[in-house]
Amino acid sequence: MRDPAVSIGLSNGGSDLEGILALQRENLRERVAPGEAASQGFVTVAHTQEVLARMHAQLPSIVAHRDGRLVGYALAMAQEARAELPLLVPMFELFAGLSFGGMPLSNFRYYVMGQVCVAAAERGSGLFDALYAEHRAVYGGRFELLVTEISEANLRSQRAHARVGFVELTRYADALDRWLVVALDLRK
Ligand SMILES: CC(C)(COP(=O)(O)OP(=O)(O)OC[C@H]1O[C@@H](n2cnc3c(N)ncnc32)[C@H](O)[C@@H]1OP(=O)(O)O)[C@@H](O)C(=O)NCCC(=O)NCCS
Repeated sequence: MRDPAVSIGLSNGGSDLEGILALQRENLRERVAPGEAASQGFVTVAHTQEVLARMHAQLPSIVAHRDGRLVGYALAMAQEARAELPLLVPMFELFAGLSFGGMPLSNFRYYVMGQVCVAAAERGSGLFDALYAEHRAVYGGRFELLVTEISEANLRSQRAHARVGFVELTRYADALDRWLVVALDLRK
């Protein structure tokens, strides 16, 4: 059962962005020891506050707090973000060629979960599931699918995503890593 002292909701777009960046920094692949990265997971992309602010303006992210401190996040990214963030164009082009349940992804109203992180002390507590439950509660009426990417090396994250219902669409490699593209059906 999740700790009732942890609150989950939409990011405020201000101090929460700083909290996201602080937690992100602690979990960047290059900052985490290799053995820990294998067992605890890691994040790859370092955002700037400006980019997070633009993402927030389009689609606020879901964050979790304990005692006022940000302890988890699952970033939301609108398809329109590709116009703001040119580095995402290849990812959205790849998505455009994928299918879900035999239908082109482009036939669906979908958005992207840009990065998820749970503070080390909160892992295994149900917070991960709660972040996605909140995504579904907030965005499930507006979108049909939630799509994200996971490093092939991040088995913990893959396992957690499979548990909450994400299914694999494809795998691919880019200059950074090898990735699984996974999607969650928000209609059921
Ligand atoms: C990935 C992350 C968000 C998951 O949240 P969490 O609270 O740790 O997840 P949970 O403990 O609920 O679930 C982890 C699952 O992985 C499994 N697991 C744990 N260690 C594992 C390992 N070394 N290899 C494979 N699976 C592992 C757990 O058994 C559990 O699966 P189960 O419920 O089927 O038994 C969190 O660990 C995290 O923030 N890690 C650092 C940043 C990160 O990796 N972000 C994801 C980027 S895509």
